[in-house]
Amino acid sequence: MTGASARESLGHDEPDAFDRQAARYDAWYDAPLGSVAFREEQDALRPLLAGLSYPRLEVGVGSGRFAAALDVAVGIDPAPAALALAARRGIRVAVAQGERLPFPEATFGGVLFLTALCFVGNPLAALLEARRVLRPEGRIVLGLLPSEGPWGQHYRALAAAGNAYYQRAHFFTRAELASLFAAAGLRPVRARSALFWPPAGGPVGGTAREGDDLAAGFSALLLGVARTTPV
Ligand SMILES: C[S@@+](CC[C@H](N)C(=O)[O-])C[C@H]1O[C@@H](n2cnc3c(N)ncnc32)[C@H](O)[C@@H]1O
Repeated sequence: MTGASARESLGHDEPDAFDRQAARYDAWYDAPLGSVAFREEQDALRPLLAGLSYPRLEVGVGSGRFAAALDVAVGIDPAPAALALAARRGIRVAVAQGERLPFPEATFGGVLFLTALCFVGNPLAALLEARRVLRPEGRIVLGLLPSEGPWGQHYRALAAAGNAYYQRAHFFTRAELASLFAAAGLRPVRARSALFWPPAGGPVGGTAREGDDLAAGFSALLLGVARTTPV
């Protein structure tokens, strides 16, 4: 399968696309485009995790590729087939939704959402839940395909053309993210950017950069808890 077509072919009107196509989604990371994207996204994310304490949770962990690579021990996801793959990678998993996490408050040093917040039905509720299970010094790490970037634009075009998988996603603009963070009582602490090439023309490869760059296809954001109480 070439270029972006592996990920494009997911979905197709299947209501449980994440579950039914877990193995196929996972295999995308072994294809030429996916493996380059995986490496670049890790380059963007890894420095943001450097100071985070353990244990760490990934919400929407999927098949656990990132969790295993980034030393994240625990993952939740509503898709059992994806979790079975994550468990094989050594991740402790639970079937759950980000909007209602099955953990007590102040459990984790870090909570990650990697290309997952865009698929969560109620992202504000999920961020508030992430806050609840974070320890006081903990941080949230987001990996996103911003709406303005080449990857967000590409997947939005696929959704507009009828791809059911991407029709379920909401690719956030920077303005939407700022409102969401303010509502959740979160503040951006650090940002890194990657994937400066369009998926249709890739893989090109490159290195992640510090800062939130509007030209990036992938944004990695580190969020801390703001002093103000969420609304
Ligand atoms: C694009 S996949 C990303 C998986 C993994 N984080 C990765 O980057 O490989 C999005 C994941 O979000 C999960 N998801 C969908 N709705 C969710 C929700 N409400 N709470 C938590 N995860 C959800 C899906 O089941 C899917 O595994």
